[in-house]
Amino acid sequence: MHAVVCEDVWMIYKSLKSEKIALKGINLKIPKGKIFGLLGPNGAGKTTLISIMATILKQTRGRVEVLGFDSVRDAKEIRKRINIASGNPNLIWSLTVYENLRYYAMLYGVRDRRVVENLIDEFELREFRDVEFNRLSTGNKQKLLLARAFVNDPELVFLDEPTKGLDPPVAKRLREKIADMQRDLGISVVLTTHYMSEAEMLCERIAFINRGEIVANGSKEELKRMLKMKDKITIEIDAEISMQLPSLEGVYMVERDGKSLSFYVDSAERRLWDVASEVAKLGRIKNIVVREVDLEDVFNELVK
Ligand SMILES: Nc1ncnc2c1ncn2[C@@H]1O[C@H](COP(=O)(O)OP(=O)(O)OP(=O)(O)O)[C@@H](O)[C@H]1O
Ligand SMILES: [Mg+2]
Repeated sequence: MHAVVCEDVWMIYKSLKSEKIALKGINLKIPKGKIFGLLGPNGAGKTTLISIMATILKQTRGRVEVLGFDSVRDAKEIRKRINIASGNPNLIWSLTVYENLRYYAMLYGVRDRRVVENLIDEFELREFRDVEFNRLSTGNKQKLLLARAFVNDPELVFLDEPTKGLDPPVAKRLREKIADMQRDLGISVVLTTHYMSEAEMLCERIAFINRGEIVANGSKEELKRMLKMKDKITIEIDAEISMQLPSLEGVYMVERDGKSLSFYVDSAERRLWDVASEVAKLGRIKNIVVREVDLEDVFNELVK
């Protein structure tokens, strides 16, 4: 059984004046017990899709199955077993950390105070236990929001941009926390993000979504392989580059930026010599950098 299965899911936002097609026939299978990433630019449809999976929105057409239940017919069953945290903290501003968690725990019928106290420790909020929500830093608000997503001991957690707006060290800490919680509890996590590095660090499988469509879906390695680009060679020379280079074997894409050229190749080891020899004809080489292609490169290629 999968955590989530989407079959030809469409979402059309209708208003009096206009119609916006946010999802165009999404087909997706999300495995259980892993972290799955939904990656895409602004307006791609990530929040819409995750909201449908979490039974907050109802799709216009198509079928969604969550933990074996139908998202429309069995929404109640699903809601007991899942939880969601979105990047826009929306807790009760006048309640403290403890009171907020306790309140949400009660909504789920969780009476044991230890559940709340454990979450406070787990998310490093002990110091702020009695601080009101509106007086917390953005990072701590986000931690509280994540903690809240665990009050009902969910099997499946949806995280919509969990590290949005956080500075890098806080974001890193939170990512580690998400990875720890997922591993320790063996739950399934579906998260959306703009950050390639986040998906690369956390997610075993990733779907790229653009303009309401899944443009690629697979493991990190599969996605990179799919595009056949493994390494990126960037060479800087001492002159502006205006000439077109001849096409070279094993080079899938060339980017030009002022005095530097980047080559996306199948293997840097095999292609470096040819590429560098060609560039040397354009000017004196000042610097060469070789690195593995990352998801950001893959993504830029996919959404073109
Ligand atoms: N309630 C709504 N009514 C009308 N259009 C909407 C509504 N919500 C979202 N949209 C539109 O649907 C599309 C998908 O939006 P969505 O919020 O799902 O994208 P997203 O990938 O989450 O973007 P972001 O990265 O900015 O959060 C966008 O074009 C958006 O403007
Ligand atoms: Mg969104």
